[in-house]
This record gives sequence, C-alpha cells and structure tokens, in this order.
Amino acid sequence: MPNKLIANKTANKTAKSQPVFIQRYIENKDEVRAELQQGLLARAATTMPKYLYDALGSRLFEAITELPEYYPTRVEASIFEQFLPEMAAVAGLGHTLIDLGAGNCEKAARMFETLRPAKYVAVDISVDFLKQALTTLQRQSPDFPMLGLGMDFSASLDLPSEIGTGSRLFFYPGSSIGNFTPADALLFLRQIHIACKQGAGQGGLLIGVDLVKSSTVLQAAYDDALGVTAAFNRNMLLHINQLLGSDFNIAQWQHRALFNTKLSRIEMHLDATEELTVRWDGGERKFAKNEGIHTENSYKYTVESFSQLLKNAGFQDVKPWQDAKQQFCVFWAKA
Ligand SMILES: C[S@@+](CC[C@H](N)C(=O)[O-])C[C@H]1O[C@@H](n2cnc3c(N)ncnc32)[C@H](O)[C@@H]1O
Repeated sequence: MPNKLIANKTANKTAKSQPVFIQRYIENKDEVRAELQQGLLARAATTMPKYLYDALGSRLFEAITELPEYYPTRVEASIFEQFLPEMAAVAGLGHTLIDLGAGNCEKAARMFETLRPAKYVAVDISVDFLKQALTTLQRQSPDFPMLGLGMDFSASLDLPSEIGTGSRLFFYPGSSIGNFTPADALLFLRQIHIACKQGAGQGGLLIGVDLVKSSTVLQAAYDDALGVTAAFNRNMLLHINQLLGSDFNIAQWQHRALFNTKLSRIEMHLDATEELTVRWDGGERKFAKNEGIHTENSYKYTVESFSQLLKNAGFQDVKPWQDAKQQFCVFWAKA
C-alpha cells in the first residue's frame, strides 16, 4: 500500500445548507510523483486506478454508467430497488452511512428513505466533484447531518473522529472492490471490519460486486462503441501530466480492455500507437509501438468466492442478493 497520508483538516461548518467537509490531502506532492514514476518506470508500466478520477474523470465515469454496454450500474440499481427493504431489515436503521467512493452520491441518496441513516458520510478522492455533489444533496435536506471526506483510502482507511460514535453501515457499491487484487481486497475489507467495530452497536457492510460472466459482455462493458470508456482511460494521462508535469500526448495512446480469464479480471490498458518517449522533470520513459500502460483491473467474483472473502475478513451472517440473470450481487455482511 502506497503513501502515508498526512491529514490537513479544513473542516468548515458554515451555513446549514453547506455540508461539513474534511479534506485529507496527499500533502507531499513528491510522494505522488514518486508513486507515478515508479509505475511508469516499471518494466511493464502501470498506474493506479485512483488516478482515473480527477473532476473530468468523475464526469466521464458518470457518462459510462449511462451506456447500454455498462450493465453494472443498472443491474445493481435494480437489485437495490427490489431488495432494499430486505436489506434494511437485516442491516437495521439509524446508522451512520459511510459511502466509500461516493462519486455523485446518488446511489446512497436513493437509500436514505428506507435506511433512515442518522448521518451520511461521503468519502472520495475526487474532492471537487464530491464537494459539488454533496453540497447539492445537502441543499435538498438542509437538516440532515452530512460529512464529506476527501481522502485516498487505498493508503489506509484512517477515518477522522468527526464521523462520530454512532453505529456504522459502510456502503461500497459499483464493484469498486474489484480494483483491488483479491489479496488487497481482503486487507481493505479487514480495515472496514475494524472501522465498523469502532462505532457503537452492530455495524456492517453493504457492498456491490460484479460477477464472472461471458468475456463478450464483460469486454463490451469496458470498451463501449461510443468510446466513452476510452476517453475515461485516456483522460488519466492528462491528469498525470498535471500531477507529474509529464508530456503525454493523448493522440498517441489507444484504449484496450480485455478479460483475463485466468485471473478473473478485466484489464484496461493504454497502448502507444507509435514509438515515443514521455518526459517529465527528472525522468523519461521510452515506449515501443504497441507497448502499454496497465491502468486498471476489475476483478470479477462468484457469489461463493466473495462470500468467503468477506468471512475471511471477519464478517459474519453474509447475505447475497442477485438479479435474475445473476450478473451482479449485493452482499450484506455483519461486522
Ligand atoms: C467506479 S466509481 C463508483 C462511484 C459510485 N460509488 C458508483 O458506484 O457509481 C469509483 C469511485 O471511487 C473513487 N475512488 C477511486 N479510488 C479511490 C481512492 N483510492 N480513495 C477514495 N476514493 C476513490 C472515485 O473517485 C470514484 O468516485
């Protein structure tokens, strides 16, 4: 796990229509540069998927969720629509709802009425986008306590005391857990389990997980005909240019997605369309034609394999809900 985060709290409680926001920056820009350089200079170049999400990346992801090929968002929504009352019955009401990778906060907001959380905590690395989404949400419910938390939880799930002592219901939808290798997913789930125990009462986790299915369906979801996922992936290079001062020319890079059956994961890559050199202050990397940068993995699970992972992380009473075509699964796991 990279980067130890340094908390830089800028909690500002202003008008009631403004949510409280705590920002935890990766203060040391050198650490970001070091992490990026290490990946780019590796024999097989890689970057971490969190760099897909600057403000434009977050908007592009929103657009992806509207694509006909991108079934996960729609199917997950249908599972929540059908089973949310059952989920509320097992999870209980009145928790502090902690939304990991909240994005536009829409998924959690749809559950407020049924889950009746005492407080909503939205966590995301894409700080500006989160601030905007949460401010809009707070205007709609000015008296409902909301807290925004700008942080990178890939380093550690180190939550501030402002979250409070209420029982904790973690919400991790969209199969974002698939971005971790199974070994790192286990470590992350263990951290969630520990964090659940830090609240009062009986906490737990509601998590959305994409299931193994035909390569054709999977690959289309990550390589749509309109090229939105390609734009999302290539935008990462613009984000890296900002962070590292590099000179990636996106016209020289092509998106590629494939399902690696052996490792049960979708891989996203960016391939150089010609021989080229990328330069930044203090470094450079030559790429041969067709040489790639591995930008994201999205691991796919079976209901059994993910249930086991949750149990190995310390959770109990695991309960899965699937759609009729068994494309996607939402799990409840009691801490
Ligand atoms: C696939 S999107 C899911 C958004 C939304 N929860 C949904 O299900 O539609 C992943 C979200 O996690 C955030 N994210 C990715 N890596 C992160 C990290 N290391 N720390 C905090 N947030 C992260 C992204 O900014 C993005 O909003």
